[in-house]
Amino acid sequence: MIAGAGKAGIWSFARAYCRDRKPGNGLKDARSCGFFITSGAVGSSRKFSLRVLQPSMTDMRVRIWRGTETGRLVEYRVPVRRDQTVLDVITEVQRHHEPGLAYRFSCRVGVCGTCAMVVNGRPRWTCRTHVNRVMGEGVLTVEPLRNLPRIKDLVCDLAPFLDTWEKAGARFSGNRTRSAPPQKVDPDSPRRRLADAGLQCINCAVCYSACDVVLWNRDYAGPAALNRAWTLVNDERHGKQRETLKEVFGRDGCSSCHTHGNCTRHCPVGLAPSESIAGLKRMALTGAARSGGQ
Ligand code: SF4
Ligand code: SF4
Ligand code: FES
Repeated sequence: MIAGAGKAGIWSFARAYCRDRKPGNGLKDARSCGFFITSGAVGSSRKFSLRVLQPSMTDMRVRIWRGTETGRLVEYRVPVRRDQTVLDVITEVQRHHEPGLAYRFSCRVGVCGTCAMVVNGRPRWTCRTHVNRVMGEGVLTVEPLRNLPRIKDLVCDLAPFLDTWEKAGARFSGNRTRSAPPQKVDPDSPRRRLADAGLQCINCAVCYSACDVVLWNRDYAGPAALNRAWTLVNDERHGKQRETLKEVFGRDGCSSCHTHGNCTRHCPVGLAPSESIAGLKRMALTGAARSGGQ
């Protein structure tokens, strides 16, 4: 740490330090060397200090899909840093090697579900996947999600995945008017508890990418939509129970699931779509379709 210099002086030192460490590398941003400026007020003046965060001692090999449906894996070298996530690595490649690299993310904290990709052969949320957990043979391979059309590089078209909600009748439809008082739902009722277990989906499409039945049959509703339908048929506020059940018991609904559980194994937020689908199958067998799920 260097303390006491002005902010401009500190950055100038950091840039010079980076140039010395990697001559000819053309580094423009001292942050890429792991520098971080901290500031704090001491007495009446503001002091700046420079911390060297995790200076990179080694590089890792990263292979990233470039192209659309046709393309190839391109290899890059990225510094190894403590606690870095797969999304950090992709961002580093985009910032320092490949400005045109297309990828998608938003929250970086596991909420929005936009950063899912296939990492070393398995679909994952990249913002919460630490490199040291998945590194395997010393190479990190990142590809777009399976079972979806590829738009560019790591970005795929989510429309077919989102359309499955409609296919499974998984759109909520309230059974009250605007002027009616809010409906009370007992949080401890059996149906509410069943619905609870399937909530909190972040629509990341990891389960859809992991499902082999989707690979064979693109008309299959898929695990996320059926999981959502399960929460609706257990939601007493949902006014279209019959319609939802008709869709999920249809040809490309829950009966197409092979119950091998890949969706549940890969779901990053710990949902169990295969169990929701099993619940729908039980409903179908017990004739709930005929009674409208009541
Ligand atoms: S359990 Fe069903 S929905 Fe889940 S991955 Fe297997 S076939 Fe797909
Ligand atoms: S069920 Fe899990 S894996 Fe599937 S979209 Fe929702 S959060 Fe993602
Ligand atoms: S960026 Fe939002 S879940 Fe990963």
